[in-house]
Amino acid sequence: MRASMRRMGHAKTKGQATVLKILGGTADDYDRVVAESTGGLDHHWKRWILDRMESPREVLDLASGTGILSFLVLDRFPEARVTGVDLQEDYQAVARARGERLGLSDRLEWHRSAVEDVELSDGRFDHVISCYLPKYADRPVLVDHLARWCAPGARVLLHDFAHPSDPKVERALHERHTRWLEKVRTQHPHWVTCFENLYDIVKESPWTEDLPPLLEAAGFTDVELTLQSYGCSAVVTARKPA
Ligand SMILES: C[S@@+](CC[C@H](N)C(=O)[O-])C[C@H]1O[C@@H](n2cnc3c(N)ncnc32)[C@H](O)[C@@H]1O
Repeated sequence: MRASMRRMGHAKTKGQATVLKILGGTADDYDRVVAESTGGLDHHWKRWILDRMESPREVLDLASGTGILSFLVLDRFPEARVTGVDLQEDYQAVARARGERLGLSDRLEWHRSAVEDVELSDGRFDHVISCYLPKYADRPVLVDHLARWCAPGARVLLHDFAHPSDPKVERALHERHTRWLEKVRTQHPHWVTCFENLYDIVKESPWTEDLPPLLEAAGFTDVELTLQSYGCSAVVTARKPA
């Protein structure tokens, strides 16, 4: 690890503090709310990742949350093992319980930690995947870790919301968000803090611009940014040289 990327004393980053503030107390109905709030697109975006995985064996799911993506990987790829890392205890408890219920615990390993601080073996993973982490992560630290954790030839696929550049799409998205927020206030009150903040967090995050050059500077190849859903979602993909 480069000395400059060591995080002294594991103080919370701004992104981690934001996550704890806006997602605290939402684990129990997260799966239902992420499906409803994205109008089902969450599943579509996750399938996009699965479709680009290449016979995975050792998969690292960063910000694994309640494990939606982790379990889709186990279901699609019977040879795969998944290591999930997540900051929040209650989200990971949902994932852990689901693994036990489905009898899949022997193919799963959970770490309750910030991705910036977690200790994982060098060169272990042939795929590193994630949904909804990049906007919160300390991206220089994340990329430094990815360069160490990835095996030669490994694929990296990192997805998150993006802010659309087309003003018409932006207007439509904002209107949809306003209507959704009204519904949240009456039907999902414990989600209000999240959705009152999420639109601006996504709008202000430069993750789609700074993540690709960071990966290139760390020696990754085939670095690509793919916009999805009229620019409301994006995935950065890359490969560690073989
Ligand atoms: C919106 S949820 C997404 C969960 C899961 N990836 C999914 O697609 O369903 C965001 C997750 O990111 C986690 N998270 C955010 N920043 C993190 C960080 N720096 N380290 C570890 N987990 C983080 C949160 O705890 C939360 O579980």
